[in-house]
Amino acid sequence: MNFFIPVFEGADTASVLSPSAYFENFSGKAGEQVFYIDADGNRHYVLGLGNKKDGTSVIRAVRSFFYKQKARLKGKVTVKLTGEEMTGYVSEISQGIYLGQYEIGVLKNRNDRKPDWYDEAPGFAFGSPVAEAAILKGRYFAEAQMRIMKWGDAPGNYKTPQILAQWITEAGKQSGYEVEVYDAKACETLGMHALLGVGRGSRENPPLFCILKYSHPEARKTIGLVGKGVTFDTGGVSLKPGDNMNYMKSDMGGAAAVAGTIEMAAKLKLPVNLIGAIPITENCIDSYAIKPGDVIGSYSGKTIEVINTDAEGRLILADALSYITDHFKTDVLIDLATLTGNAIMALGYKAAALISPNDSLAGDLFSSGLSTGEKVWRMPHWDDYKDALKSDIADLKNLAGSPIGGAINAAKFLEEFTREHPAWAHLDIAGTAFADSDFGSMKSATGYGIRLLVDYLQKVQ
Ligand code: BES
Ligand code: ZN
Ligand code: ZN
Repeated sequence: MNFFIPVFEGADTASVLSPSAYFENFSGKAGEQVFYIDADGNRHYVLGLGNKKDGTSVIRAVRSFFYKQKARLKGKVTVKLTGEEMTGYVSEISQGIYLGQYEIGVLKNRNDRKPDWYDEAPGFAFGSPVAEAAILKGRYFAEAQMRIMKWGDAPGNYKTPQILAQWITEAGKQSGYEVEVYDAKACETLGMHALLGVGRGSRENPPLFCILKYSHPEARKTIGLVGKGVTFDTGGVSLKPGDNMNYMKSDMGGAAAVAGTIEMAAKLKLPVNLIGAIPITENCIDSYAIKPGDVIGSYSGKTIEVINTDAEGRLILADALSYITDHFKTDVLIDLATLTGNAIMALGYKAAALISPNDSLAGDLFSSGLSTGEKVWRMPHWDDYKDALKSDIADLKNLAGSPIGGAINAAKFLEEFTREHPAWAHLDIAGTAFADSDFGSMKSATGYGIRLLVDYLQKVQ
């Protein structure tokens, strides 16, 4: 038998941590470990979790431990809960254990791995005498997160817009939500000129637009979720510098978070209705690509002067936001996007930028951020920032004159396409969707957003 025994720093665990001789000087500090085999041959793994008790910290500590112990910890693991407080974290512990199975190196040429990036299923079971429902919830979270981490970590040539749309469709079939895919031709008919404009430099892998739907018979609210799905962002003709451009494979983190949240709602059967809108495209260069200074149309009818082709996320989101507001009556509308480097400059990698004119929605998202550990920090939403979007030749331009206040300017641009939705919030997840971790030498997908939004949905349902 394998026993896993997580311990918060300073918890009263004398009765559980025995024989006491093994635990001299053990205080439960983050990362502290004790391992022993008892007289019956059972293996006991004791892990200190420290005293940061938000869900994300617990998940990260457990995930990291199981990732490193993976080779030894095969088969069933029984979790021993130390103290009353720990019983509130069963779902997070479960999630951390399953996430420990996530393997980033699936494209390495190893015989024991399937070459298919996407199909790797986590094969792990663990039990606890209590809280089966919380264990299952943790497992669902881990599965949804691993799915979207695989999408985020997949290289650009493994996830063209067509492939990403196919993954979303398959995820919908497996998890119980509907997916409609509009190909480039259908987008043309719909009039999604901004999305098509961004995709013009990518003739072989044209843009797509996905609508995801989950509904519940007892739902009282309908929430719209919009996610940026740029499968690779070169910057277009306003080409990005080469350094770190490889990370731009993660520019679909918003799309992944939306799909992952809807997957969770479907699996947990949350009593809400959800409409997801995901515009998907590459941002590449060829002779057809839009050029700086071009004026393009949009689904809303507004014309846009494209000052910088690298500010492409706001263009494709513009079409998705006005499409969703025209076709569905939503009580709340939230978009998620790896939208600006400026959000990272302002907040680093520990919190997403939140911009919303609605105080109560902003407050709810802020508190979900604190309780899940997937934090958000509100930035100004005032119309003082709107002037920066005025164009001399079109209805508006996609880039302000100077490189300051970029995350706010981007949000103000999006707001122009929400048809003045009274409960709209924008989350710039550029810093939180892809970050350094224990699991590789480079940045990788974090799965950010699912726990935040599921917590929010559970509170407002
Ligand atoms: N995808 C990027 C934003 C980004 C930067 C995400 C770093 C993750 C990490 C976005 O499309 C972009 O290029 N934004 C530009 C906007 C600028 C041209 C106004 C940026 O932030 O530099
Ligand atoms: Zn860009
Ligand atoms: Zn981008």
